[in-house]
Amino acid sequence: MVILCWSVKGGSGTTVVATSLALLHATRGIHTTLVDLSGDAPACLGMADPLGPGIGHWFEGFPAGNTAVLDHLTVPSTADLRVLPVGLTGYRASSSHWESLAAWCAHQPGTVVIDAGVGEPHDALWDVAQHSLLVVRGCYLALRRTARLLRKPDGVVLISEPGRALRRPDVEAVSGTAVVAQLEWDPVVARSVDAGLLAGRVPRSIREGLGELSWIP
Ligand SMILES: Nc1ncnc2c1ncn2[C@@H]1O[C@H](COP(=O)(O)OP(=O)(O)OP(=O)(O)O)[C@@H](O)[C@H]1O
Ligand SMILES: [Mg+2]
Repeated sequence: MVILCWSVKGGSGTTVVATSLALLHATRGIHTTLVDLSGDAPACLGMADPLGPGIGHWFEGFPAGNTAVLDHLTVPSTADLRVLPVGLTGYRASSSHWESLAAWCAHQPGTVVIDAGVGEPHDALWDVAQHSLLVVRGCYLALRRTARLLRKPDGVVLISEPGRALRRPDVEAVSGTAVVAQLEWDPVVARSVDAGLLAGRVPRSIREGLGELSWIP
């Protein structure tokens, strides 16, 4: 299973959602790969930096057909979870590299979660993903962007913050996409991420929020 997570605005919570989805699969004994295109996933997992080369180096320095390199770039994290780090940010990638990366993801055993960061992911990633999730806060400016997307995600993961006027039905109306999971803004989550402790235990608010997804193990 390939799960694609992304956002239309920075700081939405995409890395926390993608990392948590990966952890929830791995803790069920499912072989899981977290593909980090944005660069924050290892820190979110409490892994030591620097991790060395990653997908960015492969994009820039290797032929698209050489996906064996990607296997060598993966780094073990917790039991049953490995990370394919980005290594080099600010990369430029050809369409054939995106297609090769997508094919590599589709051939991995178990679950692959892609943290695609901000902006519409390349079509090749959409095409291999069984689930594409847009992570947003109840922010009108972000939701306006979702209304203009060329491709609609399978669903929105809403990070619900105190003080926001927009609620779930408003988010669905403005974005034109169903909210498939709602996570409450939770200081426990913020502290857990800041301390690099998310991998030790996924906080309850995340487990409950993502538990709305019918396909969560
Ligand atoms: N459910 C939550 N409750 C509280 N804080 C959260 C929650 N989700 C994310 N955060 C916090 O919000 C901040 C942004 O989260 P995150 O890095 O996951 O966003 P992002 O969309 O990946 O950002 P970027 O655009 O930089 O990649 C972090 O400090 C994180 O700890
Ligand atoms: Mg991120």
